[in-house]
Amino acid sequence: MMNIILLGAPGAGKGTQAEKICESFHIPQISTGNIIRAAMKNGTEAGKKAKAFVDAGQLVPDEVVIEMVDERLKQDDCKNGFILDGFPRTVPQAEALEQMGVQIDAVIDIEVPDEVIMQRLGGRRCCLHCGATYHISWNPPKVEGVCDKCGEELSIRKDDKPETIAERLRIYHSQTKPLEDYYKGRHKLHEVEGNRPVEAVTADVLSALRSLSPLEA
Ligand code: AP5
Ligand code: MG
Ligand code: ZN
Repeated sequence: MMNIILLGAPGAGKGTQAEKICESFHIPQISTGNIIRAAMKNGTEAGKKAKAFVDAGQLVPDEVVIEMVDERLKQDDCKNGFILDGFPRTVPQAEALEQMGVQIDAVIDIEVPDEVIMQRLGGRRCCLHCGATYHISWNPPKVEGVCDKCGEELSIRKDDKPETIAERLRIYHSQTKPLEDYYKGRHKLHEVEGNRPVEAVTADVLSALRSLSPLEA
């Protein structure tokens, strides 16, 4: 059983590393960003509420996201653990998780400087079907514009425009960064240097997790 949180700025590589942890530990990746984008695409009530916030690079109101996560964590595939990618990202969200009775084993904080983030998100390509993430120079798909995993067409996220990235970074520093101290105080925080090749980051992430749970991967 391994309940993991991935923390980090937009573009730090949470989604990229979540896919790797998923493969090694066989636990689902729960990306609130992907859940919200799917809700927007399907035009659900929650999706309609979220759209203006997401497109502007702002956080969706806590109660909307907390409800989504609460529902998702009740599904069967979360029984042996899960990776939260992009949640919590405010202190009230972290408190809500505790109130749900969810135990967290590790919080992996992927650290990347703001200047690097701007370059990464500009070159990102995403699969709206399965959630896989690529970068045109650093992590390209085998066939340009096509998802390696499911064969669907890749797209560019609307919130990956430079002005929107700057707004997401601003909000990250004011609202999400305090979670580092929150989890440090609970002795759960593991910091990983994220400004290195994907494989190097993955090696550190997996070794941090294996040291906690040597039998599982
Ligand atoms: P979300 O989708 O979670 O966006 P984000 O946090 O801004 O994070 P990203 O997905 O941009 O970054 P990532 O760390 O996953 O990076 P990735 O691996 O893709 O949320 C979107 C929106 O939804 C939010 O703005 C908000 O509105 C809303 N939302 C979501 N959760 C919410 C919540 N809890 N509360 C309220 N609102 C919420 O990597 C980025 C790029 O870099 C890729 O191209 C990748 O290939 C490349 N890359 C990755 N690692 C490396 C490396 N080591 N070297 C070189 N390139 C790399
Ligand atoms: Mg992501
Ligand atoms: Zn795909």
